[in-house]
Amino acid sequence: MAPILSVDRVTKYFAGLAALKEVSFELRQGGIYGLIGPNGAGKTTLLSIVAGALRPTAGSVIFQDRRLSGAKSFRAVRAGIVRTHQIPRPFRALSVLANISVGSRFGLHAQRSASGTRDERRILEWVGLAHVAYIPAATLSVGDQKRLELARALAARPKLLLCDEVCSGLTESETLSVLRLLREIQQAGTTILYVEHNLKAIMSVCDHVIVMNYGRKLAEGSPEAMQNDPAVIEAYIGRTAGT
Ligand SMILES: Nc1ncnc2c1ncn2[C@@H]1O[C@H](COP(=O)(O)OP(=O)(O)OP(=O)(O)O)[C@@H](O)[C@H]1O
Ligand SMILES: [Mg+2]
Repeated sequence: MAPILSVDRVTKYFAGLAALKEVSFELRQGGIYGLIGPNGAGKTTLLSIVAGALRPTAGSVIFQDRRLSGAKSFRAVRAGIVRTHQIPRPFRALSVLANISVGSRFGLHAQRSASGTRDERRILEWVGLAHVAYIPAATLSVGDQKRLELARALAARPKLLLCDEVCSGLTESETLSVLRLLREIQQAGTTILYVEHNLKAIMSVCDHVIVMNYGRKLAEGSPEAMQNDPAVIEAYIGRTAGT
């Protein structure tokens, strides 16, 4: 089966500084892929390029046989690629439910109806935010803001969901509930590319892990193989042991 996403030799320079250097990988439909690496390795930059928010300096991104490199965010969203942000970016003055409606208006099957559709309410319940549906997003706890990021992304009905540190700052039980959600999202047919520093979380949900270091892909393979890879241990796992 053809990959759902092919990233081919993607390079990104910021004012002469290389954030990504010739990064290539493929994602197969339906998997949960982990993307790990030290701070500054280029993980968020890579997600931003796949999501169409940044244009690569060189290289290409092919999604379902369509070249998206340099595409605008809204084109990527319409094609079915949706991201969550490392630092939640809710529409602060809008209610939680209205934030989710924004997702459904811009997604693959953009809805024109009033907010609060059955789908939006189902998502709200799914992520555990039904009890705060009508309060402004600005007043949510960090954990709930992370859930709202996920809910807004889900409302856009992604084929490929890019998650940037959805569990950072969450308690262990909040983390477990978000990981359960990710598995359910995968079981509903969505492919997931998941960036996280919490290795226990990554190793528990991912089928395959890509490791970045200094803007390059260092290695990729099964979670077990990556945990035992000397280069990965040296560059990253050794430093984060115990997290
Ligand atoms: N908009 C930007 N302008 C200039 N430099 C940037 C920009 N965005 C990222 N960088 C630089 O690119 C490199 C990669 O950053 P990136 O945020 O992608 O790393 P990361 O792997 O997501 O790190 P973290 O784990 O801390 O989130 C860093 O050196 C960063 O300072
Ligand atoms: Mg990042």
